Amino acid sequence: MGITPVHFFSHGSTRMLEADTESGAYWTKCGQEALAHNVKGIVIMGAHWACLGDKIEVATNPAPGKSFCPFSSPALYKDWKPNPDIPTAERCISMLKAEGFNAGPNPDFTWIHDTFMVLIRMFPDYNKCPPVTIVSMNARYDPYYHVKVGATLRPLRKEGYLLIGTGGAVHNLYRNAWTNMLLYRESLGQERPPEAWALNFRQATEDVVTKNRGPALRKAMIRLMQHPAYREAQATDDHWMPALFAAGAVGDWEDEADPNVLAAETWELVNMANSQFTFGRYKDDTGNKFVGREERESEKLPRPRMVTAAA
Ligand SMILES: [Fe+2]
Repeated sequence: MGITPVHFFSHGSTRMLEADTESGAYWTKCGQEALAHNVKGIVIMGAHWACLGDKIEVATNPAPGKSFCPFSSPALYKDWKPNPDIPTAERCISMLKAEGFNAGPNPDFTWIHDTFMVLIRMFPDYNKCPPVTIVSMNARYDPYYHVKVGATLRPLRKEGYLLIGTGGAVHNLYRNAWTNMLLYRESLGQERPPEAWALNFRQATEDVVTKNRGPALRKAMIRLMQHPAYREAQATDDHWMPALFAAGAVGDWEDEADPNVLAAETWELVNMANSQFTFGRYKDDTGNKFVGREERESEKLPRPRMVTAAA
């Protein structure tokens, strides 16, 4: 194992567990790739768990339950058993503390659908799910803080851990069209186009991710919070912080060598863009040669173009 990619998955509504979507198929593909590359474990930040004050916690419950996942059949998740990774959780706490975070364990944490919905799609057979470490957000929703969390845990990628943020590219529950969901448990029928703010922010996100690499990616992802459509696209900051965690985890100079892609997308409830991004790629020790910054420049490969958040 050389280094792993990083994913930012937009988990969308809880229908995304049951509905057959391009995004769900991509999550499955990512799970298969993870197994093919023998990933050591999953380290994941969701959008539904944040700690108060300056705290950040890592889940250390050895036998966690799962919260209710409305609008999808319980048969799809009730018997799927979590595979928590307590040793890696303790290690993450140590790594975070060493960087000055007020980090600690949470031995009572119950898994929430922002993480297990994606993991079930990735690893339908729970016996094949690699050990999972869930890291909380901080409820002050400081973008620099969450980038630093990703940067702090980035070295785990070189040991074969797969880092994932699960939130939403355009995720404003107050501006979604809920009628069909409430009446028919249906979220995919786009009876009218998304509103302009949703389209604009979705496009800005794609541009920033695909046209920036390394430290420039971190800065551009943070800068998206100043985009004119940000507050409409993200009514609250909780579904954006996992994207910043992902950017932190893949925003080193070394990461300039690899492209970031928008790999799949599913619109739901008229205005919710469930964009699935993958940063970097698997590089096995015997496979693809790592191309560092100096090598890349000596080979005169093109520099990634900077794109502003408002572009
Ligand atoms: Fe969510």
